[in-house]
Amino acid sequence: METSLIILKPDAVQRGLMGRIISRFEDKGLQVVGAKLMRITPELAAQHYKDHVSRPFYPGLVKFMTSSPVMVLAIRGNGAVAICRNMMGATFGSKAAAGTIRGDFGVSNSFNLIHGSDSPEAAARELSLFFKAGEVQEFDRAGDAWVYDMSGGKPE
Ligand code: RTP
Ligand code: MG
Repeated sequence: METSLIILKPDAVQRGLMGRIISRFEDKGLQVVGAKLMRITPELAAQHYKDHVSRPFYPGLVKFMTSSPVMVLAIRGNGAVAICRNMMGATFGSKAAAGTIRGDFGVSNSFNLIHGSDSPEAAARELSLFFKAGEVQEFDRAGDAWVYDMSGGKPE
């Protein structure tokens, strides 16, 4: 099982979209194993987006991400990183396909509602930035037997 780091960005929190976005992941069968509302500091934003530090949009990105509280989520499932990225849609709201979170809930290219880890390696790094030991839970859901076919010994 993979776990992805998802951030519901300040616009998603301010627009009251947290519940509807989380419901999409739950409806898919993914498991929410960590969640908290928090304010990202400029230092944390810099660590999180360190690969973008030299990009022209970086100062605006850090300003946006630190402007108001975010909700951080740890979302688990078989192939969760790629599944979450597909559910989020393309980076810019104006380009994201209908049916995706960015495509359905926003039009802005800057206020794009959600972050999701782009690889399992990035997910591990980002989860350790946002969640302390013990804040991500390990638990079985009552309905898990009907989310994955486990007859072959692994989730299908
Ligand atoms: P994220 O990291 O937030 O999940 O978004 P992403 O992978 O789809 O996009 P990425 O290339 O990693 O860019 C990170 C965030 O920077 C802003 N951005 N602005 N103006 C621009 O050209 C531009 N490009 C990226 C977006 O907020 C994007 O989510
Ligand atoms: Mg990215």
